[in-house]
Amino acid sequence: MKFYQAENYEAMSRKAAEIIAEQVKSKSDCVLGLATGSTPVGTYKQLVEWYNKGELSFAKVHSVNLDEYVGLAGEHEQSYRYFMQTNLFDHVDIERENTNVPNGLAADPEAECARYNKVIRDLGGIDLQLLGLGHNGHIAFNEPGNGFELETHTVDLTESTIEANKRFFESADEVPRRAFTMGIKNIMQARSILMVVNGEAKADIVCRAFTGPVTTDVPASVLQLHPNVTIVGDKAAMSKLVEAGVEVE
Ligand code: GLP
Repeated sequence: MKFYQAENYEAMSRKAAEIIAEQVKSKSDCVLGLATGSTPVGTYKQLVEWYNKGELSFAKVHSVNLDEYVGLAGEHEQSYRYFMQTNLFDHVDIERENTNVPNGLAADPEAECARYNKVIRDLGGIDLQLLGLGHNGHIAFNEPGNGFELETHTVDLTESTIEANKRFFESADEVPRRAFTMGIKNIMQARSILMVVNGEAKADIVCRAFTGPVTTDVPASVLQLHPNVTIVGDKAAMSKLVEAGVEVE
C-alpha cells in the first residue's frame, strides 16, 4: 500500500485528482469506479477545473458508482445519482449512458444486483476504484460483519451510518434504512484502488484499518490484501497512522 499525506483538504483533493487524471490520460476509455460522500467532493471539483481548462476529457470514460440508497429516485437530492450529476457528470463531457449507479427504485432488488454485477463484468472490470471511508470502517456500504466474498447486494445500514449521514437529510427518520452496494469482491477486483480520507475524526479508523488485522469487523482492512492501493489523506486523518510508524510520502 502507498500512503500520501497532504497538508490539507485542498492538497489531498489535488493529489487524488492527479491520480485519477493520470488514469484517464493513460487509458482514455478506462472504467472509473466512483464514490460519494463529502470527502471526494474536492477531488471532483479539481477534475472539473482541469476539464474546463481543456486538460482532461471524459468522452470515452465509463463509470460505475459504488452504491445507492434503496427507495430514492435519481432525481432525489440525496440520491447518489444526483450527487454524481451535480458534483461531476453535469460538468464534464462524460456520456450519461456511460455512467452507472444502481437504480434505487428497482422493483426487484435481487435482479438489480445481478444486473449491476453484469454491467461491471461487461465493461471488463474497473481500472481505478475511488473510495471514501466510513467512521466504522465501511467502504461503499459494506458495513462491519459483511462477508468479503459478496458482490453487489442490498444491506441494512447500521445506526452509526444512519447517524453519520443524517446531516444530509431533514432528520434521521428520513435517511433510507437500506442501500445497494458493490460488495468487497467487486471492489477487490478493481485493478487499482484510491482511497481519500480527511479530518481528525477518521484518524483512528484509518490506523485500525491499515495497521490492524484484516477482519470483516473493519471492512476497509481487506485493502491490505490488494496489490495496488493508494491512500491519500490530509495530515489530520493520517496522524495516528504516522504515530504508529507507518511510512507516508
Ligand atoms: C457513505 C458512503 C461511503 C462513504 C462514507 C464516508 O456512507 N456510502 O461510500 O465513503 O459515507 O463519507 P464521508 O466522505 O462523507 O465521510
